[in-house]
Amino acid sequence: MLGTLSGLLTRDLAIDLGTSHTRIWVRGRGVACREPSFVAVREGEEGRRRVVAVGSEARALQGRTPAGVQVVRPIREGVVADFQATEDLLGHLIRRVQGGRSFLSLRAVVAIPFGTTEIEKRAVRDSAEAAGVRHVSLVEQPIAAALGAGLDISRPDGNLVADIGGGTTEVAVLSLGGIVHSHAARVGGDHLDQALLAWVEAHHGLLLGSRTAEDLRIRLGSALPGVVEGAVEVRGRDVRTGFPRAVQVTASEIVEALEDPLTHIVDVLRRALDRTPPELVSDIVDKGIVLTGGCALFKGLDERIRRVTGLPVIVADDPYSTVVTGAGKVLEDAERWAGALT
Ligand SMILES: Nc1ncnc2c1ncn2[C@@H]1O[C@H](COP(=O)(O)OP(=O)(O)OP(=O)(O)O)[C@@H](O)[C@H]1O
Ligand SMILES: [Mg+2]
Repeated sequence: MLGTLSGLLTRDLAIDLGTSHTRIWVRGRGVACREPSFVAVREGEEGRRRVVAVGSEARALQGRTPAGVQVVRPIREGVVADFQATEDLLGHLIRRVQGGRSFLSLRAVVAIPFGTTEIEKRAVRDSAEAAGVRHVSLVEQPIAAALGAGLDISRPDGNLVADIGGGTTEVAVLSLGGIVHSHAARVGGDHLDQALLAWVEAHHGLLLGSRTAEDLRIRLGSALPGVVEGAVEVRGRDVRTGFPRAVQVTASEIVEALEDPLTHIVDVLRRALDRTPPELVSDIVDKGIVLTGGCALFKGLDERIRRVTGLPVIVADDPYSTVVTGAGKVLEDAERWAGALT
């Protein structure tokens, strides 16, 4: 009875604040929201600001805003870069998943990158509290990713999870319910897009918008030659004349353009494996590497990792939602995972 009552009064949320997307999981409902981490604000007179759009609507405004409106990405490389915009984003999305119902108390588990500093943790806590969450707990992303991918990390054997997102690649070895070690680098989908932008500028003399580069990479890009074939026409601004122009970009050009950041991503995995104790490595040889994060869907990346490491590679189901689903599992079994919460 008491449990039911407190369920009516309290709402439990799990939140993944990502560089590219913010996801919210709601107890009893599962993943209720997945929106691009973008906020558009209008700076008014005397510093007054008004939120114009949030999520996909704000992302659609990128590069198209009138004077006075700014599109902000509140999370950079996995950490809060703009406190006010993070609060705006969270507040808006939390209200959206509430669907007009109000609760006496909101409780949330927020997934944070491994190695987040105390100052960065405070920024996450403060922005969630400012967005209306009364009780904020934090869980490290590799634990959430492993649980979300359905791994049993409670036993004394090794598991390796690689989360390749928009702004970061985080590789962790887990055993006995904890993180043995983790390696992260500021490289992800955004860096692939930047490399493609720079390449098209250098080889075709054309400046692309960042959305165009991302669309091109997802449509025609791959991490290995021969996985995707063909060419598409993209439009941009001629570097020399300043006028609009279109060029054909081929699939093999994209693989070449992405070589550096792709090597960097695979290197993070290599370094993590180098530091893994031999007993745990032998478990990973059997179980393989589990890939999560949006870039786990990047064509040919799983195969590239398989070839370089010689290990089996498994892409998690719905890699976009793995972290938030895992943070939800932590919340559902808070007693068991108490040690993982801060
Ligand atoms: N089908 C796809 N092919 C290639 N890349 C994809 C695909 N779908 C999504 N991505 C890329 O995944 C990235 C976003 O992944 P995700 O949403 O997991 O990142 P995030 O959690 O917001 O970022 P981070 O964890 O680094 O803070 C983007 O760079 C996007 O381009
Ligand atoms: Mg992420």
